[in-house]
Amino acid sequence: MKGSKIIGTGSYLPEKVVTNFDLEKIVDTSDEWIRTRSGIEERHFVGDDEAASDLVVKAAKKAIEMASIEPKDIDAIVVGTISPDTLFPSTGCWVGTALGIEGVPAFDVSAACSGFLYGLIVADSLIKAGTAKRVLVSGVEVLTRITNWTDRTTCVLFGDGAGSVIMEATDDDSGILSSYWGADGSLGDLLIQPAGGSRMPATHETVDKNLHTIYMKGNEVYKHAVRMMALAAGETLKKANVKPEELALFIPHQANIRIIEATIKRFGIPIEKTMITIDRIGNISSATIPISLDMAVREGRVKKGDLILLDAFGGGFTWGAALIKW
Ligand code: UT7
Repeated sequence: MKGSKIIGTGSYLPEKVVTNFDLEKIVDTSDEWIRTRSGIEERHFVGDDEAASDLVVKAAKKAIEMASIEPKDIDAIVVGTISPDTLFPSTGCWVGTALGIEGVPAFDVSAACSGFLYGLIVADSLIKAGTAKRVLVSGVEVLTRITNWTDRTTCVLFGDGAGSVIMEATDDDSGILSSYWGADGSLGDLLIQPAGGSRMPATHETVDKNLHTIYMKGNEVYKHAVRMMALAAGETLKKANVKPEELALFIPHQANIRIIEATIKRFGIPIEKTMITIDRIGNISSATIPISLDMAVREGRVKKGDLILLDAFGGGFTWGAALIKW
């Protein structure tokens, strides 16, 4: 087999829609501030009875249907997430059982907003190595469960949702043409959920101090995001010898409309060729890119032979990009 290609996509957004005006009632913020600083207008929140794997199962079923396969045809499950059902077992294990897929490897990838791209690159490598033929790759977050609702600098940004793809071995020239990924843990403290791991186990004090929620030094992260999104995109295009003007669609991580605008300006990619979903879904970390890809596919914005660039940056820091020929 030459490589791997995506044969199905699916996504799921929880029913409850929360607008900026709704958030004005919770913290000292305004629709105007949120829209102009981030580009977000609304986001989706999970219901009380929903966890990460429930969202993935709904997204995965749609991807399986589009791929015209059965769950039993999947031979590995990879889930990018930082808000799993449980720290262990992995969300991948819960998803496999819920879909009736038994005995295949299932695991989570923790790379924050780059989680789906990390999963995609892992799956591409598994397929190229002959270790798997058909992989379910998902990104899912239930960020509202790890949000500090007294911190206006973060709580207005995040949402919940899941996106999935089915990747399959291929002999033709479509699929993942090139990819680039990396990490730098020296800046990890700028975007972190401090408590709940072995460094700072749960105590009454950690709960009282909101240390089990997302902490972000937004303006510091912003600078690195602009730089590393450009690096990952540029290196990925260079590896495949593809020029930005050859792209049919650019699907960046949706953390901030201003980061997206800076990235497309740098490469001369027109806004019409850029998938913008942040207004509708907010920042859903690892789920943002697979949800945006599924929306693009279902909105008819992707056709056979199109070159599509995916590009992400997130906590860790981590970054990743992949160029796909559809
Ligand atoms: O998902 C992957 C990684 N994450 C990112 O890439 C996110 C990167 N960062 C960002 O997108 C932006 O930094 C934010 C959208 C988070 C914040 O925008 P900013 O332009 O960097 O704002 P800031 O943090 O510099 O804050 C500016 C002002 C401050 O007030 P003063 O000190 O100027 O008086 C904040 O206190 O805005 C204030 N502020 C708010 N005001 C109303 C912060 N949050 C809010 C809020 N509503 N929700």
